[in-house]
Order: sequence, then structure tokens, then C-alpha cells
Amino acid sequence: MENTIEKALEYVKKVFENDYSGHDFFHTLRVYKMATSIAIKEKADLEIVQLAALLHDVDDVKLSPETHTNKDKARNFLTINNVGETNIETICQIIDEISYRGNDSVVPKTLEGKCVQDADRLDAIGAIGIARAFAYGGNHNREMYNPDISPNLDMDAEEYRNHISTTINHFYEKLFKLKDLMNTDVAKLIAQDRERYMRNYISEFMDEWEGIS
Ligand code: ADP
Ligand code: NI
Repeated sequence: MENTIEKALEYVKKVFENDYSGHDFFHTLRVYKMATSIAIKEKADLEIVQLAALLHDVDDVKLSPETHTNKDKARNFLTINNVGETNIETICQIIDEISYRGNDSVVPKTLEGKCVQDADRLDAIGAIGIARAFAYGGNHNREMYNPDISPNLDMDAEEYRNHISTTINHFYEKLFKLKDLMNTDVAKLIAQDRERYMRNYISEFMDEWEGIS
């Protein structure tokens, strides 16, 4: 198993080497580390959690739309590395369940999926989450902030994926919702601190925008 994890690390390093959209290799590495630490506390199956964490973005709909539905890249990697069929299905199901899709987001069925989803969502909030949001916004030619464009707090998967908005709105449309969507107790605690940090950040941003501070 250790060998498979090392191979997966090498594989994702290659897949994400030219990504500047907030999905770089180090995002996957942080999710892997955080998912491992949550899984140990939750006594979840480490092999499933680690492989799902490492492969969770290789078939992302934005980066690889043609392989997204069947999770072809993850599936091929796991097959080549002799992971059993049942585990492959479990891992692909987790990858499918964890992504944020507005009101169509789901709670993963397995404990392992819950650990990976929490780890992925924790990386979207706090100091790193702020940096990723602005990196994503710049990469997609989004405005940083525009007081004339209001956030849409009630979107299904389709609207969430296709609507044009600002990066500050993204905090309200997704990032501030994540704290209450955490599955595990350990992630809930970390999320509280990261949320507080983001709220302070937004408050400072707005003061500076208005010329108050
Ligand atoms: P994940 O890796 O958690 O599945 P996504 O694919 O949804 O994340 O997005 C990658 C990163 O870009 C995340 O940190 C996310 O919050 C950020 N992001 C996604 N959509 C937007 C957006 N419309 N504006 C700003 N940041 C975004
Ligand atoms: Ni991710």
C-alpha cells in the first residue's frame, strides 16, 4: 500500500504541474495530509482515505471534463496499481460525492468519504482558502469585488458552475457555508477558527474599500 501511495503522489504531481487555478499539486498534498489526520482520529480506513484524497481532483469537471463522469484517470491509476475492484468503486464514489455543487452538494455515504470531503473543504477556507479564491478569480478573469453585483445564496449545481460573479461574492456563495457542512468533529473545530479568520479578513477588506481604515 505504501508503494501505491507513493506512486499516487508522483502521479498527481505530474497531473497538476501546470495548474494555476487553485488546484495545484500542493492543494492535493494538503488535502492528503489533512484527510489522513482526520481519518486517524475518526478511525477510518486509511488506504481508502489516502487514495481518494490524492486522486480527488484528477477528474475534476473543470480541469478534465471528458474523464469526469467515469473518473477515468483515477480508475486507470488504481487498476494499473492493482487496487481491488471493490476499493476502486468505493474510491470513485467518494471522489464523486465530495465536490461542492451549491444546493446539490451531498453528504458522503461512507466515513472515509466524510473525512476526504472535510479535508478538501478545509483547504477552501482560512488563509489558504482566501489565497485560492483570489487565485481562481484571477485565473478566470473575475472581478475581485463589485458592490453592484450581489451574491446568489441559493444556487443548484448548474447555476453554481456557470454563473459569473466576483471573488468576494464567492465567500458568501460557498466559503462561509462550509463551516456548518463539516461532517467530523475535528473538522468542525478547525473550520470555526478558519471562518473567524475569513470574517475578519472580509471586514478589513470592506473598511479599506470604503477608505475607513
Ligand atoms: P475543490 O478543490 O475544493 O473541489 P473547487 O474546484 O470548487 O474546489 O475550486 C478550487 C478553488 O477555487 C477553491 O479554493 C474554491 O473556493 C475556489 N473557487 C471556486 N469557484 C470560485 C469562484 N467562483 N470564485 C473564486 N474562487 C473560487
Ligand atoms: Ni480539491
